[in-house]
Amino acid sequence: MSHRIAAKITGVAGYVPPKVMTNADLEKIVETSDEWIRTRTGIRERHVAAKGTATSHMATEATKALLAETKTDPAEIDLIVLATVTPDMFFPATACLVQERIGAKKAWGFDLSAACSGFAYALTVGAQFVSAGTHRKVLVIGSDTMTSVLDYTDRATCVLFGDGAGAVLLEAAGSSEGILDFAHDVDGSGGAFLYMPGGGSLHPSSQETVQKRMHYVHQEGSQVFKYAVRRMSEMASHLLNKNGFTKDDLKLLVPHQANLRIIRATQERLGLDDSKVVANIDRYGNTTAGTIPLGLRDAVEQGRVHKGDLVLIVTVGAGYTTGGVLLRWAY
Ligand SMILES: CC(C)(COP(=O)(O)OP(=O)(O)OC[C@H]1O[C@@H](n2cnc3c(N)ncnc32)[C@H](O)[C@@H]1OP(=O)(O)O)[C@@H](O)C(=O)NCCC(=O)NCCS
Repeated sequence: MSHRIAAKITGVAGYVPPKVMTNADLEKIVETSDEWIRTRTGIRERHVAAKGTATSHMATEATKALLAETKTDPAEIDLIVLATVTPDMFFPATACLVQERIGAKKAWGFDLSAACSGFAYALTVGAQFVSAGTHRKVLVIGSDTMTSVLDYTDRATCVLFGDGAGAVLLEAAGSSEGILDFAHDVDGSGGAFLYMPGGGSLHPSSQETVQKRMHYVHQEGSQVFKYAVRRMSEMASHLLNKNGFTKDDLKLLVPHQANLRIIRATQERLGLDDSKVVANIDRYGNTTAGTIPLGLRDAVEQGRVHKGDLVLIVTVGAGYTTGGVLLRWAY
């Protein structure tokens, strides 16, 4: 792939709300057990937003931490691409709320909806503006308040998700660093297996949509599970092969965190040992667009990634959407 200018990540930060919901807490709400959740999903606890805390608030906290870390003046930001499926409101876009709160006076921005692939999609979209040479500093944010759309009577779904946000800064890179390649696809036939039907233009909010619990996440878990394992490993192999790399060249796989069994099955297919795979689902659950930047943040904080390392992001989400971004870590 020939970019005129490559885009590189120059900083990453994250935010999770302080309140923790453990599996033991869930045992009090639905018929489940810590043992079932741990063995079937790998999740031990997740963070949940307090009433009044929304996607924009978490995104703002993550972004403020990022601006401080990278010593960036908010007035320098040119563009904000914010991935979410749980915006504060239908409109204005959550990106606009964040723009105002952080004082990014010059930036334009928009929200992007690709569910659990949202951050990977947003990273690629943001990178295009850097590569075009028209934008110098692009903020890419993934933020979701999944607890706002969870049915706490549906035990197979409510135990999986948590709330959280992460953000990265994209800037121009030298030709051998930053984003090397990406690939994304959509398989709309997957729409039947993971969706939230109520409150949109097809089923506007009404007493009926509430009574039928249509404003919550619905899923066929086993269908999603099989698709995710197959496509995450296919996407990872595709991007490595296409760019002439093998699994041995890879320093770190940063997969979407939906279920630890999906992550382990994916890495097994790729022949990667645990030291090369980010897995933090035990602490956060599935934060949808938040998982990838939170994973990158944890990897940086734990000293698992350094300048020059080959890093591969892979995601699968509702849609179905699949994403992959291959990058040479730049700091
Ligand atoms: C949802 C998921 C955890 C279910 O795990 P699973 O191993 O496939 O389990 P099953 O659906 O086969 O259910 C097995 C049993 O556990 C039960 N069960 C489901 N959730 C449970 C829970 N929280 N606690 C206890 N038992 C539960 C089921 O009712 C079923 O019981 P039954 O055999 O008596 O009918 C798993 O399919 C999954 O993670 N799928 C992907 C979902 C996802 O990631 N969505 C977002 C994608 S981005």
